[in-house]
Amino acid sequence: MCAVTLGIETSCDETSVALVGRDGTVYSNLIASQIERHQPFGGVVPEIASREHLEQIMPLLFRALESAACDLSSVESVAVTNGPGLIGAVLVGVAAAQGLSYGLSVPLVPVNHLEGHIVSSYLNREGPATPFPERFLALVVSGGHSSLYDVTIRGGRRHIQMLNRTRDDAAGEVFDKVAKVIGLPYPGGPHIDRLAAEGDRERFRFPVAQFKDDSADFSFSGLKASAIRVARESAVAAGGDEQQLRDFCAGFQAAVVDQILDRLSRLWETGTIRVSELALAGGVAANGELRQRLAAWGEQRNVVVRLAERRYCTDNAAMIAFAGLHKDPVDATRVKASSRLVL
Ligand code: KG4
Ligand code: ZN
Repeated sequence: MCAVTLGIETSCDETSVALVGRDGTVYSNLIASQIERHQPFGGVVPEIASREHLEQIMPLLFRALESAACDLSSVESVAVTNGPGLIGAVLVGVAAAQGLSYGLSVPLVPVNHLEGHIVSSYLNREGPATPFPERFLALVVSGGHSSLYDVTIRGGRRHIQMLNRTRDDAAGEVFDKVAKVIGLPYPGGPHIDRLAAEGDRERFRFPVAQFKDDSADFSFSGLKASAIRVARESAVAAGGDEQQLRDFCAGFQAAVVDQILDRLSRLWETGTIRVSELALAGGVAANGELRQRLAAWGEQRNVVVRLAERRYCTDNAAMIAFAGLHKDPVDATRVKASSRLVL
């Protein structure tokens, strides 16, 4: 009989339940995507998300147990995302986790969604997780966040310090908004990724945004605005000139990656991030160009780049259960869902 942590993730538009062993082995990680429900609206509708989570969560739990050949008596703790995210969506997961923790008499561990992404690069497709180094950087680029974190592990405890963040839009949000304007389905990131692979990045060029104060923060809203303007002026659209569409996607995507590498290089050159390991996570970490260019960036500087497995890039409960393994449980009745939880 396996001893597992049950992970629950419902912060946005994916309901996910996972069973993870003490060594980080993922026994099951099921994700019920709601993308089709939100697609007609071109983005996530919070009310629909909450209702879907409510319908999906218990059936998903029983399927997860079945696929891992475990039963509820194998669950030794419950880890749940308690924010940040859509509040109604987070509440569904937290309420389910509280009920399970109470009903099974096992501890409840609240997990910040971002901490889940931060550790996700250490999960493996099979077998135990890769051990954490004493210190690593984590770059989390997703639909809601774009930040770099300095993570140190002392006495088995993780200490996380944010080094930069986006001052406006997140990278994934900009992928999705630009994709919508050119007529690609939601979420647009994977579609742009696919089209860009066959495009010429030189045809549409976008500059890297810089702050007057020389900050290493990200800013993607200027890029979003100019990409949308160029798309409209040049009538770039799905179903139109296919090569033009691919070239536009290549130029836009390259600009997102250019900015990410520009910030990393700046922090590297000023000595802020002289570490030996860099983890890439979050939905946008699935992007082919970002993975390739970041790996090359690391190679040039002797930095080990840990790319999260694609299955653990977008929201999933395995990363939440895994993050929960290294945290203390709290009084289950006091776990609060919060839309704006900070690390
Ligand atoms: O981490 P995630 O599932 O949700 C948040 O916590 O935000 O990230 C979802 C985001 C979406 O914006 C989606 O377009 C983007 O990740 N994404 C990608 C790719 N796959 C997903 N962006 C660029 N290239 C991809 N291959
Ligand atoms: Zn996420």
